Amino acid sequence: MREAAARTEVEDAASIAAAAVPALLEAQGLRLEIGGKRLIDGIDIRIGQGRKTMIMGANGAGKSLLLRLLHGLIVPTAGRMTWRGGPLDKSARRAQAMVFQRPVMLRRSVLANLAFALKVRGLRGPAREARIAEALDKAQLGDLARSPARVLSGGEQQRLALARALACDPELLFLDEPTASLDPASTQAIESLIADASRRGVTVVMVSHDLGQARRLADDIVFLQAGRVAESGPASRVLCSPRSEAAGAWLEGRLFLDGQGAQG
Ligand SMILES: Nc1ncnc2c1ncn2[C@@H]1O[C@H](COP(=O)(O)OP(=O)(O)O)[C@@H](O)[C@H]1O
Ligand SMILES: [Mg+2]
Repeated sequence: MREAAARTEVEDAASIAAAAVPALLEAQGLRLEIGGKRLIDGIDIRIGQGRKTMIMGANGAGKSLLLRLLHGLIVPTAGRMTWRGGPLDKSARRAQAMVFQRPVMLRRSVLANLAFALKVRGLRGPAREARIAEALDKAQLGDLARSPARVLSGGEQQRLALARALACDPELLFLDEPTASLDPASTQAIESLIADASRRGVTVVMVSHDLGQARRLADDIVFLQAGRVAESGPASRVLCSPRSEAAGAWLEGRLFLDGQGAQG
């Protein structure tokens, strides 16, 4: 009994601490219908400033669609979004960057890929050169600067995509399964770039299937099921004592098929 009470206290403290962080991006009643199907069905989400929020859930749960909606790449059928409590305007969108699950690279060198992204953001001259050098160094891609981006390994491409997004100095970074299908060393390199960005104050929203990664990186977890939030809260609480069937089954390693209950 005493142990359970202590755990509840820790959980409450984590929830109170999370709620005390001001919201950077907030969405209410997000809905997306395509061809008469509700793919995102009334999602409320609060992205705390400076936090690392991890979006989890089974394949097809709506994680990538939610990320695209939050980043403004798709217009929702219904719902409302705010940025620091105010309107989400063009300057707020410019303060965001996204790394897609399959990053798109120019058919040019690593260096040119970085230079192009910064040029689009209006950076030129020595400031751009300095930003490129810093990005190459952080992503440990200096030796590959002149190589065509398309010949890089999966891990190197993902590192370049992340370095390119971070070089744009975003306040909010969206990452869609940034380490899916990478080996442990490549995964570690990506995670350390994410952790470093977070320490410098970048707010991170990432999709992941990796429980170890959630334990290592997540401050908050949003667990999706069939286009809805099944559960959300501080990672320390959701990972230890999930309240929803969906998150519980998933954490126990049982396959959870949307709308079909837990499978053995
Ligand atoms: N453009 C689209 N048109 C119709 N259905 C879509 C579209 N994009 C995604 N979907 C469907 O929406 C659901 C959620 O997709 P997605 O967000 O990609 O899932 P995941 O959680 O695996 O990232 C899936 O059933 C998918 O087939
Ligand atoms: Mg996806």
